[in-house]
Amino acid sequence: MNLSFNRHRRLRQSPAMRALVRENHLHIDDLIYPLFVVEGKNIRNEITSMPNVFQLSLDYLLPEIEEVVSLGIKSVLLFGIPNEKDECGTGAFHDHGIVQEATRLIKKHHPELIVVADTCLCEYTSHGHCGVVEEGKVLNDPSLKLLVDTAVSQARAGADIIAPSNMMDGFVTAIRAGLDEAGFTEVPIMSYAVKYSSAFYGPFRDAAESTPQFGDRKTYQMDPANRLEAFREAESDVAEGADFIIVKPGMPYLDIVRDIKNNFTLPVVIYNVSGEYSMVKAAAANGWIDEKPVVMEMLLGMKRAGADIIITYHAKDVARWLKEEGK
Ligand code: PBG
Repeated sequence: MNLSFNRHRRLRQSPAMRALVRENHLHIDDLIYPLFVVEGKNIRNEITSMPNVFQLSLDYLLPEIEEVVSLGIKSVLLFGIPNEKDECGTGAFHDHGIVQEATRLIKKHHPELIVVADTCLCEYTSHGHCGVVEEGKVLNDPSLKLLVDTAVSQARAGADIIAPSNMMDGFVTAIRAGLDEAGFTEVPIMSYAVKYSSAFYGPFRDAAESTPQFGDRKTYQMDPANRLEAFREAESDVAEGADFIIVKPGMPYLDIVRDIKNNFTLPVVIYNVSGEYSMVKAAAANGWIDEKPVVMEMLLGMKRAGADIIITYHAKDVARWLKEEGK
């Protein structure tokens, strides 16, 4: 028989051969681990919809950070849950707000750990929206001022990266100007440039207690049906001075990650969001999937799609697994 075909299996014949030709790798340095810090003492509440993710008061935060650091994770992303909410979300930009205090505490004990501060208002507003609300509408420009105040107070507390997520137009240029004016020219902005209005945020809103009390976020977050809109959003944020571009959520938007990677030169961050995490956890708890290989395949897929950095609640597990594999 004289058949002509390619022998692709030659390069798959042994673990060493497969390792030699492997195109993408997951590395501990790629990961950012999100944490939820709450005001109060002695609080370590597991989020019902997010097994093994906790709301932590500051006394519990430090041991958590010790663990994160010992696992080799180099960056964390902070979300704050205040005791009191109000119309304007003043807790977000209070110098002794929960994220500011958590940042100071972390930087005091682990100055080398990168603290990314999520810069938004929804956890702090009584109505749960990400900006100023008037007559049932979320106002763009008045929200910018509060967001700038939040970013500056986070930088003052020692945050290494500011990550604005409220999807108001102009937030990057406003925050950049505010940071520069306050002397924080060296603090980069990791913009949630491409953030879809997603049902996958459900469990996060339990964790952050940030569910909108009326309506939804569709006038500021993006329509999941749209692709070109992602280019427009990213172009604006790059022009305004963003240092990183986040695409969020992760798995259902890998095409968008690839688009952004191919068309922009900034580091691309993917947010593997709460609902993606919860689905895996639920299926694994039922014995329907094998958690470790599923998580590793998902995150590797994100790298392959073009993500340079992954924000994920799986980060601690992944750190352990990578260690076990000697990576
Ligand atoms: C908004 C914000 C959200 C998430 C992070 N920051 C979602 C929202 O619009 O409610 C979601 C993250 C996740 O689901 O893991 N400040």
